[in-house]
Amino acid sequence: MPPENNDITVTIDLMGKKDLPEIMAIEKESFVSPWSEGMFADELKVRHSQCLVARLSTDKKSMIGGYLIFWIVADEAHLHNLAVKKEFRNQGLAYGFMDVMKEISRQAGVRAQTLEVRESNLEAIKLYRKCGFVVKGRRPLYYTDTHEDALIMWADI
Ligand SMILES: CC(C)(COP(=O)(O)OP(=O)(O)OC[C@H]1O[C@@H](n2cnc3c(N)ncnc32)[C@H](O)[C@@H]1OP(=O)(O)O)[C@@H](O)C(=O)NCCC(=O)NCCS
Repeated sequence: MPPENNDITVTIDLMGKKDLPEIMAIEKESFVSPWSEGMFADELKVRHSQCLVARLSTDKKSMIGGYLIFWIVADEAHLHNLAVKKEFRNQGLAYGFMDVMKEISRQAGVRAQTLEVRESNLEAIKLYRKCGFVVKGRRPLYYTDTHEDALIMWADI
């Protein structure tokens, strides 16, 4: 019998339809107004949408730790969705995703990245600032569920 190995390997992989049940569980624990499974399925069909998951594997099992969806349109990258499963937060997974987005964007000739974030989402805003994003604008009452403004952030590549 080989020795038991509980080391976790993290792999960034393309999202597939079979991943959607696990993704939906993370989505529901992460957002006040979660995307539906159909919205994720639609993203998988959009040619300029980059849909990625982080697979966490031991020698016994594999699970999804988080996901990232962004669009590359002309010379801009637009972050559409990012979430990390609660039990794996604060371990650098989102930071790793942002790095991957930047690298894919750079290789595609993108000059700038942008995103919208709820102004109350301090964890995400701190992450984005750490990744070089700065607030360049605001969309008043953008989120109809909580009547919150969106901050518009940009980062050059
Ligand atoms: C925001 C989110 C994606 C961060 O994921 P994560 O994997 O925990 O983030 P990381 O571990 O890579 O942290 C990177 C940086 O984010 C910030 N951050 C993450 N969690 C934080 C927290 N609880 N409090 C303050 N800052 C936090 C910090 O700047 C951190 O850097 P540090 O380790 O030097 O402090 C995660 O909290 C999440 O899924 N939230 C719910 C969904 C969401 O809000 N998505 C963003 C929508 S715009």
